[in-house]
Amino acid sequence: LQTLPPMELAEKYFNIFPEERDPLWQNPCHDKRHKDIWSKEKTCDRLPKFLVIGPQKTGTTALYTFLSLHPAITANYPSPVTFEEIQFFSGPSYHNGIDWYMDFFPFPSNVSTDFMFEKSANYFDIEVTPKRAAALLPRAKILALLINPVDRAYSWYQHQRAHQDPAAINHTFHQVVTAPPSSPADLLTLQNRCLVPGHYIYTHTHTHTHTLFLGVTPVFNYTQALLLDENKGFWCQRVEGGRPKCLGKSKGRKYPLVTRAFLMEYYHEHNQELLRLLNRLGQALPTWLREELQSTS
Ligand code: A3P
Repeated sequence: LQTLPPMELAEKYFNIFPEERDPLWQNPCHDKRHKDIWSKEKTCDRLPKFLVIGPQKTGTTALYTFLSLHPAITANYPSPVTFEEIQFFSGPSYHNGIDWYMDFFPFPSNVSTDFMFEKSANYFDIEVTPKRAAALLPRAKILALLINPVDRAYSWYQHQRAHQDPAAINHTFHQVVTAPPSSPADLLTLQNRCLVPGHYIYTHTHTHTHTLFLGVTPVFNYTQALLLDENKGFWCQRVEGGRPKCLGKSKGRKYPLVTRAFLMEYYHEHNQELLRLLNRLGQALPTWLREELQSTS
């Protein structure tokens, strides 16, 4: 029997099995052979039971914050590099491996009642995510937020303006969403980021996801914990004897109404598809979808 030094052996192995160069992590405890070589010091339960997958600008931070108030729900530790989100399944960090991912979660105190979760708003529309998430977390529940894609698109545009993106600063929203394919690359990138995450049905067929009831106990009374702040126009946390605690200035901005007609037309087909999918899944229709389809039919 012959062998090679580790690096050369790896090189040879990946020459024979090139498709394995790109790893697909699984839960070590789901396969006896893996479990047997998994360190006794480690647990396989330091993984989330559900994921909030976005898309961006749909209220994911509010949902993340409010879910974290629940006594049985624990969010991931914030990542210092990617706007507090882990973005494990969607980005280069995936190659850091599952120990790196698990370090974002506490050791569960009671496995059956601790609901750990993470929220990474770009999971929704990055194509590689569903395959990777399903391999590591086959039983995890998935929460997707489907707000009116017109509002989402405008919110993303405002977000990019606030971050000084020159394409957003130098063009109106209407110019961005109607820019022809011959436009400069930075304008088309912005257009893409405004429009495509709102193709809910397209991304849905990639992700095979649907919103599922989480089954978390005890039932938490959000009516007591939150109140609608009239000034802000959004839900905020009640604070005993003080002003309600709302999300930071960058969330829940106020901007003038923009013309919707072009985008309503643009999303009409996508929304029809979404309607068919939600009907097929037996899911309730969001109010905006009902209204949008009524007004454009
Ligand atoms: P704007 O900031 O454009 O108004 P995300 O956290 O996914 O980036 O989403 C941000 C959006 O969440 C906000 O967009 C706002 O419309 C919405 N939102 C929903 N509930 C909110 C809340 N309680 N406070 C602030 N923003 C909220």
